[in-house]
Formats: sequence, structure tokens, C-alpha cells
Amino acid sequence: MAFYYDSPSHTFNEYLLVPGYSSAECIPDNVSLKTAVSRYRAGETPALTMNIPLVSAVMQSVSDDKMGVALAKEGGIAFLFGSQSIESQAEMVRRVKRHKAGFVSSESNVRPDQTVADVLVLKEKTGHSTVAVTHDGTASGKFLGLVTSWDYRPSRMDPSTPVSEFMTPLEDLIHAKEGVTLKEANDIIWSNKLNALPVLDKKGRLLSFVFRKDYDRHKANPQELLDTDKSYIVGAGVNTIDYKERIPALVEAGVDVLCIDSSEGYTEWQKLVLDFVRETYGDDVKIGAGNVVDRDGFRFLAEAGADFIKVGIGGGAICITREAKGIGRGQATAVIEVAKARDQYFKETGIYVPICSDGGIVHDHHVTLALAMGADFCMLGRYFARFDESPGRRVTVNGSYMKEYWGEGSNRARNWERYDSGGDKKLTFEEGVDSYVPYAGSLADNVALTLAKMRSTMCNCGALTVAELQEKARLTLVSSVSIVEGGAHDVVLKDQTGQN
Ligand code: IMP
Repeated sequence: MAFYYDSPSHTFNEYLLVPGYSSAECIPDNVSLKTAVSRYRAGETPALTMNIPLVSAVMQSVSDDKMGVALAKEGGIAFLFGSQSIESQAEMVRRVKRHKAGFVSSESNVRPDQTVADVLVLKEKTGHSTVAVTHDGTASGKFLGLVTSWDYRPSRMDPSTPVSEFMTPLEDLIHAKEGVTLKEANDIIWSNKLNALPVLDKKGRLLSFVFRKDYDRHKANPQELLDTDKSYIVGAGVNTIDYKERIPALVEAGVDVLCIDSSEGYTEWQKLVLDFVRETYGDDVKIGAGNVVDRDGFRFLAEAGADFIKVGIGGGAICITREAKGIGRGQATAVIEVAKARDQYFKETGIYVPICSDGGIVHDHHVTLALAMGADFCMLGRYFARFDESPGRRVTVNGSYMKEYWGEGSNRARNWERYDSGGDKKLTFEEGVDSYVPYAGSLADNVALTLAKMRSTMCNCGALTVAELQEKARLTLVSSVSIVEGGAHDVVLKDQTGQN
């Protein structure tokens, strides 16, 4: 007879934290959000930690090299999507590792034969007002000039006017040469009153830009996550099919941590990948596995040697696995159960295997709840997809800015390797949707706000570290009626725009 769980599974929204005693020491500035990423023995320090408990999802619409840099700057780790060729994923890793703070690869580029109309479309898409003109329209083509909003007036110009007629050509621009330091670049910007400084290599190809508006951001961020060579730490997703080729290429490119990306991780395929990594690299290469939603799944992957274990099936914003296949578990219950298994495993073996709550974070406080329930960090897709730094296009829908966000199990991503359980090499049915999420601006601003809320809640619970929160948190399930009480109620809300 089938096994039945005694109680229903719950989501984050059904829980609240009950405040505890806060000493005078409990102020947000004293809160540390540092957390372990890789397994460690009692009394030892983990080989890999993060300064904030956030990682970005292994998804085409979330984690590319730009996200990798932006998130590492804030202290977290991006897991670069694996549903691309081995070469292009390895190149993404290299781009993050090579990235030099303040030098930005050009994202808006045109050829000289393109037109005012093309520039306007590009501006709408990227939101950038500085456009590089290169011979082939790529970010590394021979640099010919620059187009900014000073150079054209759409209302007075024929939309088919070629860029070559109105761009500011290279000979009228100040540029810097390869090897320039950030300090030197900024001095050139300030003394010449520039907004953007192109940096060119010996052959005149565009390498990067230094922007005046980024000046403040270049000052070191104390939270940023760097390796011993001062390069940003970056992760990458791998699958259970081509791992024998993909993993060596990513390791060669300098990846810091891997994660097996699969919709369901309690499988022999995952053990085979973990065996391969341990046989080839010992403990030098860090690799997480998942996803699981119960104690047995955790135990299996912990014993197979996973460095961290991801929790969650069916809770992602773009996920339709539960509808398509009828499997999954409420995310809160899954985290609580797996955390118990993690603690039991630690008690028995003295080995702590961090767990990551993956998917289903809708409000900022859900991250705090996940940590309180025992997660060591959270993986988020929808959250990061909303920011400037995500790969999805920014579009207008009914007058509002949106970013595209599509699931790895959607027809758009066609990531059949993530859902493979033998058989044809194709996606037989969809487990994800293609969608929009409201555009929310820069990652740095949003992450700062999320962390501020988390620090404040942790202080309310008398916790100054993630471990303390896990130990001290007191959680209560809420009734459906008290959920209504939790929002603004019984008042007439003023217009959000402040008009009345
Ligand atoms: P979100 O933070 O709620 O948007 O969830 C992101 C997570 O959803 C990812 O980290 C994956 O675990 C999962 N996911 C990504 N693509 C799909 C899909 O197409 N179907 C189901 N789950 C997905």
C-alpha cells in the first residue's frame, strides 16, 4: 500500500516568525549573513563560503557572466546556465574570472551602416544611451565611433539616416589604450568631462568602456566574493549526460563551484556524476547536487559526496511540474524535512552538508523564513530575472517595463538534459512556462533592500548569524484568515503614485 504523509505540505506564505528577545547588540549592522556553501567537518571551516545567502538559478534567463559579476560583487554566487554548448559556458566562466571591476564590456553596439531607427530599437531594448559603433556591430569589433543622445534628434531626422552620418567618429573622441588602470581611466574621464571612455586594444578593437556614472560603484565593496587571485567567485550548472566533457572544461576555465542541475536528484545518475568528480579531482572540485524534497533524498546525496544539496521540486515561479507530473512538495515543508536530515547526518558523522532552498521565493521575507527553517542559502530565479543584469530582454507590456523569464523546462529553453530519465533525447512535454516579470532596476539596489529587511527580521528574532537564526527562530503556521490580517486591510489605500 502506498505511504501517506500525516500532514499536508506547506509553502513559505503559510508561516510567520514570532519575535524573540533582542539584546542591545542586536542591530542590523552587527548581523553577519555569511554562510557555508561546501561540506565541512565539525570544528573545521568550510572551503567555500558566501557573504550573503543568495545564489542565482541555473537558468538561461537568469545566470550569465554579467549576472556572475553582479552577484559576486554583492557577496553571492551565480550558477551559469548549463543549457548551452560546453565551449560557450566555459567562455562565460572565463569572462567572469577575467572581469576587472569598472571595465564594462559594451552591450549596445551597431554597425556604421545601421540607422537611427536601429539605434532607437536598441535603446528601447537595453535602456542604454551610449552605443558603440564597431565595424561588425559586435562588442569587440574595430571601434569606429560612438552614438549618444547628443548625436541625433529622432523627431528631425529621417529614420533611415545611417549611423556613419551622425556618430561621433573615433578621431573626435578621447579613448584609452589596453592596460590602462581604473584610476588612470577615471582621471581621464574627470579631467575631460567625459561620460564614457572607450578602451581599445593595439589593433583598435573595442575592449571595454569605463563609465563616469559607475565611479562610486568601483570603490571596493566589502561584501564582494573574491578568490585568492582577486577574481570573482563563480559557479556553473552541469547535467548528468555530458559531465565527463563539461566538468573538465569548466574546471579548466576556472569555475569555483559546480551544481548538478536536475529537476529530480534522488537518482543513480547524480551519484555517477559525484563519483566522477571525486575520482578525478578528489575534494578539490566543489559540487552540489539535487533537487530533493525529503530525508531519504538528502541522505543519498550526502553519502554520495555532494558538497551541498538543493531542495525543492515544483515550487519555481515558472514551474508546472506539479501540474504536468503530479510530483513535488510544498517548499517550506521540504526545507524543514531536509534540514532535519542534515542535522541528523551531522550528529552521526560530524559532517555538515549545507542545504539550499531552491525556488518559490516570492517575497523578501521568504528568504529569512527559509534560513530560519534550516536552509543555509537560497537559489532564486524570478527574483534575479527582474534586474538589469539578467540576460532576458526588457520589453514594455501594457505600458510597463517587463523582463522576460522562461523556465528551463519550457519549449523555449529546451533543456531536455535537466529532465532526462532515459529514452529519447528530447523534451517530450513542457515542465516550465515562458513569461514576463516586472522589471525592477539594478541588482545592487534590490539586493541591498532584501538584505536590509533580512537583517532587521533577524534582529527581531535575536539572531546575529544564520546559525543563530536557525537555532533561535520560532515559527508559526498561520490561518487563512490571519493571512488577510497580514496585509493592509480595512483602509482605503491612497494612490501608489502619491497623486491623492
Ligand atoms: P523561482 O525562484 O521561483 O523563479 O524558481 C527558480 C527555480 O525553478 C530554479 O532554480 C529551478 O530549480 C526551477 N526551474 C527552472 N526552470 C524550471 C522549469 O522549466 N520547470 C520547473 N522548474 C524550473
